[in-house]
Amino acid sequence: MDYLEIEGGHKLSGEVIISGAKNAALPIIAATILSDKEVILKNLPNVVDIRTLLKLLTMLGAKVEHNDTEAKIDCSTINSTRAVYEIVAQMRASILVLGPLLSRFKHCEVSLPGGCAIGQRPIDLHIKAAEALGAEVTLEQGYVVAKAPNGLHGTKVIFDKITVGGTENAVMAAAMAEGITEIVNAAKEPEVAQLCEMLNMGGAKIEGIGTDRLVVHGTNGKPLEFNEPIEIIPDRIEAGTYLCVGAITNSKITLKKVNIEHIQTSIEKLESMGCDFDIKKDEIMIIPKDELRGVNIITTEYPGFPTDMQAQFMAVATLAKEESLIEERLFENRFMHVSELNRLGADIWLKGNVAAVRPVKELIGAEVMATDLRASSALVIAALAAKGTTKIRRIYHLDRGYDRLEEKLSNLGAKVVRKKS
Ligand code: UD1
Repeated sequence: MDYLEIEGGHKLSGEVIISGAKNAALPIIAATILSDKEVILKNLPNVVDIRTLLKLLTMLGAKVEHNDTEAKIDCSTINSTRAVYEIVAQMRASILVLGPLLSRFKHCEVSLPGGCAIGQRPIDLHIKAAEALGAEVTLEQGYVVAKAPNGLHGTKVIFDKITVGGTENAVMAAAMAEGITEIVNAAKEPEVAQLCEMLNMGGAKIEGIGTDRLVVHGTNGKPLEFNEPIEIIPDRIEAGTYLCVGAITNSKITLKKVNIEHIQTSIEKLESMGCDFDIKKDEIMIIPKDELRGVNIITTEYPGFPTDMQAQFMAVATLAKEESLIEERLFENRFMHVSELNRLGADIWLKGNVAAVRPVKELIGAEVMATDLRASSALVIAALAAKGTTKIRRIYHLDRGYDRLEEKLSNLGAKVVRKKS
């Protein structure tokens, strides 16, 4: 199994080009099911999760040509509506095919995602939205079986909890439904907004994009048509991760092809820790400080501080000169990086969903284990600043979401190698 060996303590410099956002690309790939013509996607990140979803579409019968950052997807040939356990178990986001399959084919069977390392992560809200739109949903032998023989019909979907994937599934289901669907308490994440914009390009009409109330005018069964390629937005989490790399290694790093508005909370938190920034249009350079102040973070939905940046900031906070407090509000078990960071010499104390990160003089390289995608990147960030060598095992988590991580870090001067054990 592959592992990463990182020799820490080196000052970095240079530029990183930020890839397309995995979490924007996944729903957009799923939404191509709503078309019976070829759709071209550009600026895809070259990561395992994207390949997994494209494989699922191929298994459903779609024709997929994929080459690094570009994919041509033709869903006119879909001849199955069953998303099998083998794929869904690898990646929970496979549940995103539920809405579009149901909307276009009036039935589908999607395996339940099963357990997940960062908490229970149920899909009850996805199911509730499908039912509100008129589907009959049952659970049969581990599969969500959804049927709407008379098609889906516009309705009011009220989410009692904000859910990114649930909103995306509801919007995709409503896009080809008959009539108007109002989605209340919708997620406002940029990835949800890009999905809505894409659906509008294809012939749906969605109002309220970027707000918590979306109004979807369905096409009444007419498949969507995309005449222009769709360019995936920059990955705000990858961008935030490289800003954290700059902050912890006290290195000036320039990020290119970023959307500054989408990374505002990461910029503000790093500013509060003492870092400066030089910002130009879609470029940002972090100008870090020798001594970082402590930081207080509460994760919330967009535009609040993203849960997907919590672990990386915790890594940076380990070497701040003051105590930091980090509260995780979205997922109940998203602190598995704490014990691994402590193995590197951090002093983090955990109570419920709050972590107190106490200052330590240095981190020292050790063997650690990646536990989920963002937790793994926290270990990389800590390892880059630690004295000596760190071995990070189970890096398949990193490969799910970070495009060419070793290459990008090596270009900045980091000593990172992938090895096999
Ligand atoms: C997406 C992101 C993930 C990010 C998360 C929160 C993708 C592919 N993944 O995940 O990186 O960490 O948003 O920003 O875009 N919930 C329910 N019932 C449901 C659905 C969700 O109770 O049916 C709960 C979840 O357990 C969680 C909260 O709602 O506590 C938010 O989850 P959600 O926004 O749905 O996350 P994902 O879409 O899975």
